[in-house]
Amino acid sequence: MRSIRVGLIGWGTVGCGVIQVLRENEADIRNRLGVPLELRRVADLDIDRPRPVSVPRDLLTNRIDDILNDPDIDIVVELIGGLDAAREVIRRAIDSGKHVVTANKALLAHSGNELFRVAAERGRAIGFEASVAGGIPLIKALREGLAGNRIQTIFGILNGTANYILTRMAEGGLSFEDALGEAQQMGYAEANPALDVEGIDTAHKLAIASALSFGTPIRFDEVYTEGISHIDPDDIQFGEEFGYSLKLLAIARHMDGRIETRVHPTLIPRHHVLASVKGAYNAVHVQGNAVGNIMLYGMGAGMMPTGSAVVGDLIDLARDILGSTPGRVPALAFQPDRLAEIAIKPIA
Ligand code: HSE
Repeated sequence: MRSIRVGLIGWGTVGCGVIQVLRENEADIRNRLGVPLELRRVADLDIDRPRPVSVPRDLLTNRIDDILNDPDIDIVVELIGGLDAAREVIRRAIDSGKHVVTANKALLAHSGNELFRVAAERGRAIGFEASVAGGIPLIKALREGLAGNRIQTIFGILNGTANYILTRMAEGGLSFEDALGEAQQMGYAEANPALDVEGIDTAHKLAIASALSFGTPIRFDEVYTEGISHIDPDDIQFGEEFGYSLKLLAIARHMDGRIETRVHPTLIPRHHVLASVKGAYNAVHVQGNAVGNIMLYGMGAGMMPTGSAVVGDLIDLARDILGSTPGRVPALAFQPDRLAEIAIKPIA
C-alpha cells in the first residue's frame, strides 16, 4: 500500500519537533493510518548548521522547488515563517495540487482569508492547528468538538514567551531582558521577539481563533493590541502584594451581533485558574451556549508541543487523502465570503 509523503520546508525549532515526533511515534502513526507517513524531503536555505534533530543527508535540499515540483509529495509543511515567502510557498503548493500544513499565525492573520478561499476553490486543505496555542488542540476543539455551540466568549493566554517572561519576572526576580533571553534560549520566542512582547503574536492567534469561534473572516486589523514591553517589575510586585497576577490576555466576545477582540496585560485575582498558568504554558477559556464553560491548558510553544500539533494535522489530512475526501474540514473552517452578512464592530 502507498505511503503518504510529506515535504517539510523550514528546518528550525518547529521543523525539528515535527521530524522528532514523526520519528519517535512512527509505529503508532502507521498503525493509526494503516500506511506510513513518510518524510520525503526537508528543505532549508542552510542545510549545514547542526540542529538538535538531524536529517539524513539524502533527504536534505536547499531548493524549495525540490519539494514543490515533486509530484510524489502529497502534503507540504510550511515552517519558514514570515509573510511574503511563506505565502508564495503555500500558493504554489496549492497550485501544484498539494495540501498544506502551516504553523504560520502571522501569515494566516494577514492572508488567511485569501489562502483558505484559494485552497477551497482547488479542493485542497490547509491544516493550521499549530498556529494557535502551540500543542493545545484549540482549532480542532473550536471547529469540531464545539461545532454545535454558539460561542459567546473566548479568552486566555496565547503566547508562551510573554507568559514565560511575566512568570520569571514575578517569581525569579529576573529583569525583562534576562527573562526574554531565557525564553529565546528555550526556543519559545519568535525570530523577531517584538512580535511576542508587543502582543502582536497573541493578536494574530486571537484573530484566527475569533474567526473560527464566531464564523467570520479573519479580522486581524480590528484587534486592539497592547504588549508587555513597558511592564516594570514594580507593576508585577504591587499586583502580587494586592493578590493579583499580571497576565497578557487575549479576549474575544460576541454580544448583540458585535465582536470585540483585544489583547492587553491584565491583573487577574490570584485564585483565578488563569493566574496559575506559568512559564510557556497557554490556557484558553471558551464559553459556548450548550457546553457552558471549558478550559484548555497545555504548552503553548516549544519544539515538541508545536511538532505534536503539526503532526496531528498531517495525520488528519492523510486520513482525508486515504478516504478521498481531502479539503473536507478546512474548507468548512469558516466562510471568508460571509463578511457582508455579519456585523463586526468593536464594542465601544
Ligand atoms: N512565540 C510563540 C509563543 C511561539 O511564544 O507563544 C508559539 O506560537
